[in-house]
Amino acid sequence: MSKEIKRITVLGAGTMGHGIAQVAAASGYQTALFDLSEQALDRGLAQVQANLEKGVAKGKVSQEQMTAALSLLDGHTELELAVEDADLVIEAVPEVMELKKQLVEQLGVLAPEHAILASNTSSLSLSEIASAAARPAQVIGMHFFNPVHILRLLEIVVADQSSLATLEAVKGVGERMSRVLVVVKDSPGFASSRLGLCLGLEAIRMVEQGVASAEDIDKAMVHGYKHPMGPLRLTDLVGLDVRLKIAEYLHSELGSESFRPPQLMRDMVAAGQLGKKSGQGFYTWQ
Ligand SMILES: NC(=O)c1ccc[n+]([C@@H]2O[C@H](COP(=O)([O-])OP(=O)(O)OC[C@H]3O[C@@H](n4cnc5c(N)ncnc54)[C@H](O)[C@@H]3O)[C@@H](O)[C@H]2O)c1
Repeated sequence: MSKEIKRITVLGAGTMGHGIAQVAAASGYQTALFDLSEQALDRGLAQVQANLEKGVAKGKVSQEQMTAALSLLDGHTELELAVEDADLVIEAVPEVMELKKQLVEQLGVLAPEHAILASNTSSLSLSEIASAAARPAQVIGMHFFNPVHILRLLEIVVADQSSLATLEAVKGVGERMSRVLVVVKDSPGFASSRLGLCLGLEAIRMVEQGVASAEDIDKAMVHGYKHPMGPLRLTDLVGLDVRLKIAEYLHSELGSESFRPPQLMRDMVAAGQLGKKSGQGFYTWQ
């Protein structure tokens, strides 16, 4: 393996996948975006176009950069065609271990032998995902942040099986994508989700106990600690259902009470108050 990475395929065109594909194409990689659903693929590609147009309107992206990025991006609904020439495949399909393992196993047959397989999972064990691969040394985590074209952090998660060559190759890709890199060992919640979620869950417990309003808890962190956004607004943006799943997983894996999901969180998810995507969370969204 260890071939220069020129072609990247992103699997899943949802919230994360379209953003990763946008950044890959904007960094000069020939990029394929794949989704099982044609509707999701069209939505993802339209979102990339809209993001770039917004960038042009704001003067952050030139017209030439936008045209160049779009010319490097193709959409696919057939996995075989999407990955046949890939040097790096980044999966951003839903956070379900069995799904990710199944995909990685399939890629052992469909992707070129030298291809690196990266997962954008925000919490699942990379070593377990790698165990399903034909070439586990070529599996690694590339954890991007939402929205990908704005937030520059890339958390590289090294599985027990990941080789040094794989790590070096994805570091190179991250640098070319102008990311700020952190390298962490595979452990539940990595560095970012573990710390970020801890703060979010404690903030929910404080609302539950009537310590302060959601707005005031957020203001305390924004104005007292210079966080760009408070933990409850962030929970609304990520989705309470998404954070609940991660909390349940970290609670079972780490055994720490800090990760026990608060009852208020469970009640809100059961009532469909999922945050921005449902219109109601700790805030009301238009
Ligand atoms: N949303 C976030 O803020 C965030 C941040 C970092 C990491 N992540 C991680 O990124 C991954 C994707 O999350 P998301 O929020 O983009 O999800 P999403 O639901 O927005 O998108 C998932 C997409 O995958 C598609 N899909 C489902 N099964 C597929 C398959 N077998 N092959 C190809 N496509 C398939 C769906 O049609 C959908 O378009 C998850 O692992 C999640 O934990 C999410």
